[in-house]
Amino acid sequence: MSRFLVTGAGGMLGSVFCRQLKDKNEIYGIDIKPGFIEIDIAEKQVLWDFIKKTKPEVIVHTAAYTDVDGCELDPKKAHKINAIGTKNLAEACKDIGALMVYISTDYVFDGEKDKPYTEIDLSNPINVYGKSKLQGEEYVKNSCGRFLIIRSSGLFGKNGRNFVDTILKLAALKEDLKVVDDQRACPTYVDDLAKAVIKLVSLKKEGIYHVANSGVCSWYEFAEKILKISGIKKEVIPIKTDKSARAARRPKMSALCCDKYVEAAGKPMRHGREALKDYLKEIC
Ligand SMILES: NC(=O)c1ccc[n+]([C@@H]2O[C@H](COP(=O)([O-])OP(=O)(O)OC[C@H]3O[C@@H](n4cnc5c(N)ncnc54)[C@H](OP(=O)(O)O)[C@@H]3O)[C@@H](O)[C@H]2O)c1
Repeated sequence: MSRFLVTGAGGMLGSVFCRQLKDKNEIYGIDIKPGFIEIDIAEKQVLWDFIKKTKPEVIVHTAAYTDVDGCELDPKKAHKINAIGTKNLAEACKDIGALMVYISTDYVFDGEKDKPYTEIDLSNPINVYGKSKLQGEEYVKNSCGRFLIIRSSGLFGKNGRNFVDTILKLAALKEDLKVVDDQRACPTYVDDLAKAVIKLVSLKKEGIYHVANSGVCSWYEFAEKILKISGIKKEVIPIKTDKSARAARRPKMSALCCDKYVEAAGKPMRHGREALKDYLKEIC
């Protein structure tokens, strides 16, 4: 039994951490949303008072401003939540000697590599979201005595905006779907990610780890898979990124090499295709 603080407890990944941890641990789930312990991680004093009172042994930090295009349009908000919010947590973590588990992103990379990124590859974000998350990583590395930085990719699950839900919604509305085929990633089910992170914590691992479901695909290929498994007959038309008007640039390749995780955990995470089947069962 350990005492965990989970930030972003109402979000896609944070809600799964709370669910998976609750039976064997004491959990404090905070979020800016009502229905949880309502704390804004950017409000340093309130956050610190709470952390010093509850003294968690592990802080799992999933809260973030995750709207990639929104971050581009409002860089101040991105910095305040993703960088300063993380700094506030990292400093409090150091003060009470807790382990900080920071969920970061594949978008810290520029996408110019032609192979999946490893933990030692140089980060070079090309959008505001990626820059603010990388700044968060720096605060964690510089402030926390003990930390785990987990980079993951293309999350899908309940309680949040995600690609799978978007494709299903669009399929119900449109005759055909246009999806980019020149951005590659490792779509990852939040239930699998949370389980893998909890495993790394229980193995007392520290440092940076890339953690994602196995398999690399383009968003076009992933959309086709979603429709096929769901039994929906709609055409998916591949398009290039420059034909999709988005505020933020996206890396062409943001797949993650998870060999370090595999070595620590003893086996790779299952293929994203199998995880997708489970998610589609969960929401049907
Ligand atoms: N989604 C992806 O594809 C992806 C990929 C790689 C890495 N990640 C990282 O994984 C983590 C979890 O992502 P997710 O998709 O589960 O996120 P999410 O569903 O957007 O959940 C984040 C939660 O944090 C809350 N929050 C936002 N600002 C806050 C603040 N100032 N104080 C306290 N809570 C706040 C959000 O509330 P509101 O909804 O009201 O804003 C939301 O409930 C994030 O750190 C993200 O950067 C995500």
